[in-house]
Amino acid sequence: MPKAQTILITGSQGQVGQSFMRLADQCPHYSMVFVDRTKLDLCQHEQVRQYFQHNQFDLIINCAAYTAVDKAESDTASADAINHLAVKQLATIAKEQNVKLIHISTDYVFNGQQYRPYIETDPVDPQSVYGVTKLAAEQAIMQTMENNALIVRTSWVYSPTGSNFVKTMLKLGAERDSLAVIYDQIGTPTYANDLAQAIMTVAQSEEFNKAIFTTEIYHYSNEGVCSWYDFAKAIFGESGLSCQVTPIETKDYPTAAKRPAYSVLNKSKIKQTFNLTIPYWRESLKMCLAEL
Ligand SMILES: NC(=O)c1ccc[n+]([C@@H]2O[C@H](COP(=O)([O-])OP(=O)(O)OC[C@H]3O[C@@H](n4cnc5c(N)ncnc54)[C@H](OP(=O)(O)O)[C@@H]3O)[C@@H](O)[C@H]2O)c1
Repeated sequence: MPKAQTILITGSQGQVGQSFMRLADQCPHYSMVFVDRTKLDLCQHEQVRQYFQHNQFDLIINCAAYTAVDKAESDTASADAINHLAVKQLATIAKEQNVKLIHISTDYVFNGQQYRPYIETDPVDPQSVYGVTKLAAEQAIMQTMENNALIVRTSWVYSPTGSNFVKTMLKLGAERDSLAVIYDQIGTPTYANDLAQAIMTVAQSEEFNKAIFTTEIYHYSNEGVCSWYDFAKAIFGESGLSCQVTPIETKDYPTAAKRPAYSVLNKSKIKQTFNLTIPYWRESLKMCLAEL
């Protein structure tokens, strides 16, 4: 078992941040410090620098982000400030202080025109401001930290807290008799609790606890594949809502930000490197609904 470590979790009020909070009790070998925007605004660079002068950590897990994908199209500066510039500063500080960094990124770095699950080395080509800013953060980390950082790209995150597709469907499904949902965007949902658990497994691994490891990107989502339509059907089926779901095409539901049509992530690398078993998305959906 590795020595006791102190982990800083940023963005602690977000979906994934909250999942780490739920996990904290099960990780007695770690001291976890949680900061939300009120305690540490990552866009306030001087405040951030001072914070790290007074507080020492072994590992930073960055869960903070600007995730309003459509709003980001017109609020580019804010999205870039948190998704890119703040991450660049975190990586700089982590490098200076010899702190390890785990950063969460997204399937939106891809253009979604592929027909097989994306591997980590597939060409990136973000189609939205959100995707561009998240990719810029990945590149800033890779440039700043040749070693001791890990970037986890994930997709379609949901949890019992925060705003997400599952909670939106439960709300609309209770209010309406029928709903139209897109069937030509294909991906994999990710239960935030599974993602947090997987990241803690990684953090406890021998590989991660080497004094030096090469900075790498890994893909993580739940297992399986579905469209938003299938996801909505499963949510209603599992929760006993009788709302009818009609499949529609992306062109019939215009949004400010373009989404990848296909963004299934290949998870072989993370599974093999860290000996991970990943739950099937429908099983994890049941877990989340039970928690709700
Ligand atoms: N949600 C998805 O479907 C999805 C998919 C792929 C990847 N990801 C990635 O997964 C990670 C976690 O996402 P999530 O779903 O947990 O996001 P989330 O629920 O939106 O949480 C993000 C958190 O970041 C905080 N934050 C924003 N600006 C900040 C700042 N300047 N300083 C400090 N904190 C700030 C937010 O606080 P406020 O509430 O105060 O704004 C929020 O609590 C992110 O990196 C995201 O890009 C998410």
